[in-house]
Amino acid sequence: MKAVVFEKYGPPEVLELKEVEKPIPKDDEVLIKIHAATVNRTDCGFRDPEYFFIRFFSGLFKPKKKILGSELAGEIESTGKEVTTFKKGDRVFGLSTINFGTHAEYICMSEKRSITTMPANMSYEQAAAVCDGLMLAICYIRKIDFKKARKILINGASGSIGSACVQLAKHYGAEVTAVCNTKNMELVKSLGADEAIDYTREDFTKSSQLYDIVMDAVGKSSFFRCKRILKPGGIYFSTDLGFLWQNIFLAMLTPIIGSKKVMFPIPKDSKEDVGFFKELIEAGNYRAVIDKCYPLGQIVEATKYVETGQKTGNVVITI
Ligand SMILES: NC(=O)c1ccc[n+]([C@@H]2O[C@H](COP(=O)([O-])OP(=O)(O)OC[C@H]3O[C@@H](n4cnc5c(N)ncnc54)[C@H](OP(=O)(O)O)[C@@H]3O)[C@@H](O)[C@H]2O)c1
Repeated sequence: MKAVVFEKYGPPEVLELKEVEKPIPKDDEVLIKIHAATVNRTDCGFRDPEYFFIRFFSGLFKPKKKILGSELAGEIESTGKEVTTFKKGDRVFGLSTINFGTHAEYICMSEKRSITTMPANMSYEQAAAVCDGLMLAICYIRKIDFKKARKILINGASGSIGSACVQLAKHYGAEVTAVCNTKNMELVKSLGADEAIDYTREDFTKSSQLYDIVMDAVGKSSFFRCKRILKPGGIYFSTDLGFLWQNIFLAMLTPIIGSKKVMFPIPKDSKEDVGFFKELIEAGNYRAVIDKCYPLGQIVEATKYVETGQKTGNVVITI
């Protein structure tokens, strides 16, 4: 089968389209013919780790997992003999965050992993772009008590995680202010934002409004800059570690000192969550924003685009 393989850490050019052995499913696994995947920031972070500690997971000197890609949509081609929940021909979507491997024509996954049947009337391209941003967003959004915290500001609302945060926060009844570039003002409103702030014209940290939650989904601010727009008892989240990994230390310190705190949840995917994402989509409460689609053979170009930090929503790979 064709797959995009990388043997060493480095720039996007380390990714090579190669012929590799087609996997064979174990008894508890399904073999999925992948039709669409994505390139996301996690793929980039594992291909060329910015923080050395990532290498304790990804391989100290060279990558342990040679095929990246954590999101997929495809069709079950065959099943191991113990598989009970899927059958040949099922259209499935989901996440492979531990083993990666979706930048390939086929993948084997245990039926217990984060996959489920696709929502009705959805293309493979749309389904592939659902799970990563939404999984990261829900890890943050679940920490919020929306009965008390009604007013939320989301910075980077046009990104993969940000666009998911906007839709989830609206789903839970929050009043959402989205911060984005001029060109994405209409998009974030169409996702449900009540207000939109254009960051090229206005510094949201100087706003006269106060918020229960400031969610920096693009890691461009800091707790110290955002503190003044947080209400007493307000919470600051960031998807990024921050300067000198400050968000980890602040998440430990701020619950003890001061009334405004930082939270830095560790993301984790689950099969139940992918089922929940399907329900959200089928109820018309979620859509993945897709910026561009590239064929598998153009993964280097796709990766370079993702690394501009300027994609709107998600970048899809068709296979
Ligand atoms: N915690 C984790 O486990 C985890 C996992 C994956 C990613 N991340 C981190 O989460 C962040 C977001 O990831 P993502 O995939 O959602 O990013 P993304 O899709 O690449 O989002 C970038 C978006 O942010 C907007 N943006 C750029 N600069 C901005 C600014 N100064 N203010 C407001 N918006 C700005 C861009 O729009 P314009 O350029 O048009 O403004 C673009 O739409 C990244 O820093 C990534 O490293 C964390």
